[in-house]
Amino acid sequence: MMKGLSRRDFMKGTAATAIGMATMSLLAGCATEAAADAGKTAEATGTVVGTTYENLLTALQGETNAFTKYEAFAKVAQSEGYDQIARLFQCTADAEKIHVGLELALAQKMNPETKAPTGDAVHEGLTDANLITGAQGEIYETSDMYPAFIKKAQEEGETEAVGVFTRAKLAEGYHAELYMNVYNNINDLDDSKYYLCPVCGFIHKGETEDACPVCGVLPTAFKEY
Ligand SMILES: [Fe+2]
Ligand SMILES: [Fe+2]
Repeated sequence: MMKGLSRRDFMKGTAATAIGMATMSLLAGCATEAAADAGKTAEATGTVVGTTYENLLTALQGETNAFTKYEAFAKVAQSEGYDQIARLFQCTADAEKIHVGLELALAQKMNPETKAPTGDAVHEGLTDANLITGAQGEIYETSDMYPAFIKKAQEEGETEAVGVFTRAKLAEGYHAELYMNVYNNINDLDDSKYYLCPVCGFIHKGETEDACPVCGVLPTAFKEY
């Protein structure tokens, strides 16, 4: 539990999260109907699947929203004195920027008119709630959105998109784990540094001599936070 936050406040936050998840399920239902109207397919879990190019635009918006959010969350964490969490949010924001760059380049290859989107407005809370928000987004992307987009890209024979989506999906799984790690240890944080793979957005907590498990880049190329 975080500094200055009573258990009651914390439980309220947890309840709000549960309500938020229920709302997301309801919205997912609406998304399914909207997709049917648009002649697209929607997965039962809520991801609206279009063509691979359309999916790239969706992913691009999601990654842009993610980095905008994490940069704001990093400032909140810093102001609350959570240096380690601030560094993790900033490192993850930079990881999402890598995904934006890869997806934008591919989308522009398919349609040179493609423009980089801007991030939606951020509604930040206190740091523990921001960690849950971050983890939820990462879990959605790794277990729902990217798998659906990978399947579609495979069907369409878009091998480059399969590669970009797959690497992003794998990196998001590590991000979710790292958010939950600091969430569970919020009263017992340490000075661990984070290391970002500049190619795929994978993040490792602590020094490592191992190559990136997602893309194989050597750890000497990793950026320290
Ligand atoms: Fe991520
Ligand atoms: Fe990597």
